[in-house]
Amino acid sequence: MRKEADFLVIGSGLAGMMFALKVAPYGTVHIVSKTSIEETNTRYAQGGIASVTYSPDTYEKHVHDTLIAGDGLCNEEVVRSIIKDGPAIIQDLIDFGANFDKRPDGEFDLAREGGHSEHRIFHFQDRTGYEIQRALTEQVLHNPNIKVFENHFAVDIITQHHLGYSLVTDDIDIECYGAYVLNPKTSKVETFLAKITYIATGGIGNVYHTTTNPTIATGDGIAMVYRAKGLIDNMEFVQFHPTALYNRNERPSFLITEAMRGYGAILRNQKGEAFMEKYDSRKELAPRDIVARAIDTEMKVSGDEHVWLDCSHIEPQGLIAHFPNIYEKCKSLGIDITKDYIPVAPAAHFVCGGIKVNRKGRTSIKHLYAGGESVASGLHGANRLASNSLLEAAVLGHRSAVAASKKVETIQFKHEIPDWSDEGTSHPEEMVLITQEFKELQQIMSNYVGIVRSNLRMNRALERLGIIWRETKELYDRSTVSPQLCELRNAINVSYLIIKMAKQRKESRGLHFTIDYPQKLKIFDKKVSN
Ligand code: FAD
Ligand code: SIN
Repeated sequence: MRKEADFLVIGSGLAGMMFALKVAPYGTVHIVSKTSIEETNTRYAQGGIASVTYSPDTYEKHVHDTLIAGDGLCNEEVVRSIIKDGPAIIQDLIDFGANFDKRPDGEFDLAREGGHSEHRIFHFQDRTGYEIQRALTEQVLHNPNIKVFENHFAVDIITQHHLGYSLVTDDIDIECYGAYVLNPKTSKVETFLAKITYIATGGIGNVYHTTTNPTIATGDGIAMVYRAKGLIDNMEFVQFHPTALYNRNERPSFLITEAMRGYGAILRNQKGEAFMEKYDSRKELAPRDIVARAIDTEMKVSGDEHVWLDCSHIEPQGLIAHFPNIYEKCKSLGIDITKDYIPVAPAAHFVCGGIKVNRKGRTSIKHLYAGGESVASGLHGANRLASNSLLEAAVLGHRSAVAASKKVETIQFKHEIPDWSDEGTSHPEEMVLITQEFKELQQIMSNYVGIVRSNLRMNRALERLGIIWRETKELYDRSTVSPQLCELRNAINVSYLIIKMAKQRKESRGLHFTIDYPQKLKIFDKKVSN
C-alpha cells in the first residue's frame, strides 16, 4: 500500500511535532511514530528548557555557558543564533498551550542547572517534557492537515538506491523520496512517499545497559541516514546524566533532575562526605561530564554501585512543590526525599552527535531535513549544556519548517519508487536470537565505551560488535522485518559509529574521556559581563 503526503515526519517528540505544526499550513503532513504518539524522550524531560529572559541574564552569558560546556567544539555562530531564537520559541510553545511555572508576582519561575551561570530554565514542576508533549499532541491531533500513524515503524528512508543506483560509486546527489514504514497490523512494509522528509527520531540511550531514555531511543534515524550514505558527526560524545535513581531492576532509569542540585541538593559518597569540591570549584553545578566522572570515580574507589543525593537540609514544602514527581516516585520506593538520601548513579542520557545538519536543519541528503536529538547541529559540541536540547529541538524544528515550506512546491513525488519486497524471507525462528544480541550489545557499550574509555576497551568493543553485526546481518537478510530486528540493526549501526568516532579522536575532550590521552586543562572561571 502506498501513502503520499507533502511532508513525512518520522517521530512525534518536540522536534517532529514543532516541524509538523509549522509546515501544516503549506501542505499535507504524515507523522509516523513507532509506538504511541506520546511515548517520546520529550515526554520524560524534567528540568526544562533554557532561554534568556530576565536581567541580569544576557544572551552572551548563555552563549558563554554553552561554549564552555561544549569544550571547544561548538559552532559559535550556531550557538549564538539558537540562543537568540529562544524567547520567540518559548512564546510559540506558550501559544501552542504549554504551561510554565510562574512565581506569585507573575514572573516566570526560572530554575538553574549545572553549567548555567544564571537562572534561565523554564519548567513546569519537574515534568516539563510531559507538559510540552501534552500541549503539542493536542494541537497535532486537532490539525486537519496532519495525519498521525501510531505504531508505525520507519525501516529505511527511500533514496535512488531503491531505484538501483549505487550511492557509493555513482556521481549523484543523494535524494530522499520518503520512507519504507512497517505497519504492524498487516506486518507489511508500506511505501510512504513525500516531497520532503523530516527525521526526528530522538536519541540512542538504549545502546547502553543503563539509560534514562525510554525504550524507543535506539538511534533509528541516525542509522537510517548512515545506511543511506548521509553525513553523521560527533557520535563519540555520549552524555551520561550524573543522577539517575539507582534502583537495580528498573529500566529505563528514573531521572533525578539536575534542577535538584540547582535547588541545593548535595552529592555525598558512602561515608556521607560531600565530594564534588575535590573535583571542581563549581561543585554540584559543574557541567555534567565532570559531575558524572566524579561520581564514577567515587563509585570505583568505594566499590559501590551508587552515591547519594542529599536534600535533607532543604526546606521540605518548597522541595516537594518544586519536585512533586520525584517526591512521589521516591516515596513509592520507601525513600522520603525530605529526610533520606537518594541513591543515584550515572546513566546514558543524551547523544550530542548525529545526522549532520546546517542552520536550517538540512542534511547532506536532498529533500531530507532532521532535528532534535538525532542531529549534530553544532550547538552542543563535545558536551551539551543542561536544558539546551529542548531548545534546539524546538528552534530547529521551526527553522526547518520555514525552509521546507518554501521548497515544497518545487518538488515532485517520485512515483517510480518500487514497493518493498520481502520475497525469500521468513519469520525469524526464535526471538531470543534478537533479544540476546541486544543484551550483549548493551553490555559491550556500557563496559567498554562508557564514561571512561581506553584504546584497549574500544578495540575489544569493535571486535565483539563485529561478531554481533555479522550474525544480525545474516538474520536480517533471511527474515521478514520486525521492529525488534530493525532496532537491533540500528543499535549496531549507531554503536559502530560511536566506537569509530571515539577511536578517531586522539584526545580526551568533553564527554569523550580516555585514559590513553591526558585531559587538557579547562578554563571555566572567565567571567562574562552583563
Ligand atoms: P523524542 O522526543 O525522543 O521523539 C522521538 C520520536 O521518534 C518518538 O515519537 C519515536 O516513536 C519516534 N521514532 C523513533 N524511531 C522511529 C522509527 N524507526 N519509526 C517511527 N518512529 C520512530 N532535555 C532538555 O533540554 N531539558 C530537560 O529537562 C531534559 N530532561 C530529560 C529527561 C529525560 C529522562 C530524558 C530521557 C531526556 C531529557 N532531555 C532533556 C533530553 C530531551 O528530552 C530530548 O533530547 C528531546 O526531547 C528529544 O526530542 P526529539 O523530538 O528529538 O525526540
Ligand atoms: C535534568 O532535568 O536534569 C535533565 C536536563 C537535561 O537533560 O537537559
